[in-house]
Parts: sequence; structure tokens; C-alpha cells
Amino acid sequence: MKDIYNPETFREQGYKIIDILTDYLEKATSGDIEEVLPPITPDEMLTKWSGEFPQKPTHNTEDIIKKVIGLSNHLHSPRYIGHQVSAPLPNAILSTLASSLLNNGCTIYEMGPAGTIIEKRIIQWMAKLIGYDDTSDGFLTSGGTLGNLTALLAARQAKAGYDIWSEGTKEDNKLAFLVSAQTHYCAKRAIQIMGLGEKAVVSVETDENYRMTIPAIQEAYNSAVKSGRKVIALVANAGSTATGSHDPLEEIADFCQKHDLWLHIDGAHGASALVSEKYRSLLKGIEHADSVVWDAHKMMLMPALITAVIFKNGKNSYEAFSQKASYLFEKEAREEWYNLAQRTMECTKGMMGLKLYVSLMTYGTEFFDDYITRMYDLTKKFADMIKNSPDFELAVEPQSNIICFRYLHKDSSDIKKEILTKGSFYLVQTKLKDETYLRCTIINPLTTEQTLLDLMQEIRSLQIFSTASPSFV
Ligand SMILES: Cc1ncc(COP(=O)(O)O)c(C=O)c1O
Repeated sequence: MKDIYNPETFREQGYKIIDILTDYLEKATSGDIEEVLPPITPDEMLTKWSGEFPQKPTHNTEDIIKKVIGLSNHLHSPRYIGHQVSAPLPNAILSTLASSLLNNGCTIYEMGPAGTIIEKRIIQWMAKLIGYDDTSDGFLTSGGTLGNLTALLAARQAKAGYDIWSEGTKEDNKLAFLVSAQTHYCAKRAIQIMGLGEKAVVSVETDENYRMTIPAIQEAYNSAVKSGRKVIALVANAGSTATGSHDPLEEIADFCQKHDLWLHIDGAHGASALVSEKYRSLLKGIEHADSVVWDAHKMMLMPALITAVIFKNGKNSYEAFSQKASYLFEKEAREEWYNLAQRTMECTKGMMGLKLYVSLMTYGTEFFDDYITRMYDLTKKFADMIKNSPDFELAVEPQSNIICFRYLHKDSSDIKKEILTKGSFYLVQTKLKDETYLRCTIINPLTTEQTLLDLMQEIRSLQIFSTASPSFV
């Protein structure tokens, strides 16, 4: 047994694995990988991975790692322009090796002393960018979905008017959340997980830029009230998943204040723009939000998962799983700010702050400002390229680094399938007003204007035989 931790074997294997990963990184970042996503159906992939585990050692780690690299989606390729998942930074990747080795959970200080404090420093840095003061507080959690659920649980407890966490829902006190029609599906899911039912999700229609307007919010509010519901919260987008649209936060904050609503901002994608001098104005008004969710595995170039949930009033960070409203909380319990389990869904939580802490310390904040600014600028440039091409159509002017468009001579679903079959790029599709568009997130720092010109050319030159499309896309 002692042999299993043999430091020399670890060192020897570690060097070999770092060599494999380095060679891969070099190949991927130089665009030297032929297929961004290997065109293999799930059934074919199943045949490649044995589920028969040997009794005695037979494999070496390097072989398995080489194989998994070959059969994965290559996010470091400049031609990866698909979902909002980043090509992680080298120092972040290396620090996850350390956090895996240490395996210090960050929900109980004793189990992760350094990790817990690192997490606090990250939350403080983010809170300052949001514009919150020292009374704000929060924590990291495992993804935007869980982050939104946690924030909305806190909203429910703070605004229900009674201790709903202990007493449960009441037939004569039906609640409602106003949610943009463009909100990520996880917000609706969160409200239904809370047992409030589908009707508690009141959808607010968006304008031609996929942003909520005050008249639309007012209309949704009135209809919820008319149906006998107590509206307690509003979920705004900064930016939305499909089009990267930013809701007008300042006006929305005024509305929420007037109607005593909890304002939650889903900034999973777009809150990172707070780091950009040029684009932080997209988030004007975010400082009025009661809670904000911010994913660092989207626009901060971190490996998944790392999501911040930050509350304007730090006391509210105890509401989600509280037995009592926060004002009734025992003083001692709240003073245990370093034992995060009281506030997070997770019991064992990864040491997820280290990768971002290391990256901020080693690359500096200016690097992130440049990266985000460049991605947003490039997306605007891509929009101009599309508008200047009579055979392409832009769905909506991009507000961030998500862009939707179509080619006028071929069906978007067929284009996507064909491109993924060839592996020349990785991009996705979305439906907007019942029409299908190609959707790109320009998220890889190595993607250039030339990459996007190549994409347009690739789309034009595709030979589409739609019936022959493979089933893996
Ligand atoms: C705006 C928004 N919110 C929430 C989520 C869910 O985040 P996660 O995938 O980290 O659970 C996404 C994912 O794309 C998103 O775009």
C-alpha cells in the first residue's frame, strides 16, 4: 500500500504527463489539430472505452491520458467557438494539480484553511468590482446552475414573508419570480426545485435586442398579481445565454426597489466584463442587485467549475439554507464566516478558488481586462464582417462576445452538422423567434479575425447532404 504514494514514481510519471499535456497544448493552441471535435457517435465512443477493470495493474496513466486527449473536444483550438466554456490558462491548470493533491474542501475552515481564505479574497475582489461595500459577502460554488439556485433560495427566504424554509409553501401565499424570457433554463429549474411550481415562473418578454424593458416587466408583474401571486423577485441577465444580451440593470433596479423585489443578476457569463475598462458600463446598475452570480469558468479562462455567489448584504448569504430569517440568526453562527457549509449547497466542496487566485496573482488583472476587451471587440468586428456580406445575416447586434447569424443559402442546422462532421470548427446553434441561427462564443484568446473569415469561407464552401448527417450532433 505504501508503494502507491511512492514520491519517485509520482515525480517520474508527473514529468511524463506534463510532457504529454505540453505537446497537446502546443498542438491545440497552434491550431494544428485537424478535428476540433472528433466526429464519433456516442455509440462508437462507448466501444472505445472498456468498463472491465483489471484486478492487477495492466495500464499506465500516460496511455489513458493520451487516449482521452485524442477523443475530446479541443477547447484550446482557436477554431473552438462554441459554448461558453473557456480554454484554461496554464497556471490555472497547474494549480488544479495542487488542489487535487491537497484535496482540502472549502466548507469547513479546518478542512481547507488556506483555500477558505483564498476564496474570501476572490469574493472580496469580485464584490469590489461589482461596486458593493464591505458589508457584502459570498462564496464559491460548483457552477452557475447551483449558484443561481442558491441565490434564489436566499431570495425566497428573505422575501416570502414567513419562514418558508421551515414551514414550506402555503396554499394561500403563492409566490412568483419574474424571469426574462431569455434567462438560462437553470433559473426556471431552480424555482421548480424549490417546489413553487411552473406558474411561479413569470416570463418577461424581451425587445428586439433580447433585453427586458420596464413596460414588459410591469405587464408581467401585473398579470402575476392579478392571478393572486405575491411577486418576490426578479432575475435579470448580464448577459443572456443565447445572444449575450445585457438587461438595463439600472432601470430594473429602480423597478425592484419600488415594488420591494429581490433583484438577482445572473452574470454567469457577462459579469467578467466588470474587469474590462471599456465594457464594464454594460453592467451599470449591478451594484443595486441583492445577489449576483459570476462564473469564472466562462470568461475568466478557468477550468470548470468555479462560480461566485455574492450578496450585497452579506447577512443574506446565510438565508438560502437558514432555519430562521437571518435577523434571528444566533450571533455566534454568523460569526463563523470561515465555515462556509452553513451557506453552500455542497458539504464537501473543491478548493476551487486556488486556480483563479494563482491566475490573478501571476498574470495580473490587466491581462484579463485585455482578454475580455479583445474578445468583445473581435465579436463586434465579426458582426461587421457578417453585415458586409450579402450572403450572411446577423440575428442581432452583439452586446458581448456571443454572436448569432445565418447563411442565407443553407439551413443553419445542416451547416452546424456538416461543420462538426468535418471537425473544422466547433460552433453551436440556437433558436431565436422560431428561426434557427448559428451561434458562436468568441472565447478563445487565440481566435483571430482570420479564423472568422475562414469560418465564413468554410460555410460558403460546404457541400450539404442533409439526409446523410451523422447522429452525434
Ligand atoms: C447566463 C447563464 N447562466 C447560468 C448558466 C449555467 O451555468 P453552469 O453551466 O456553470 O451551471 C449558463 C450556462 O451557460 C449561462 O449562460
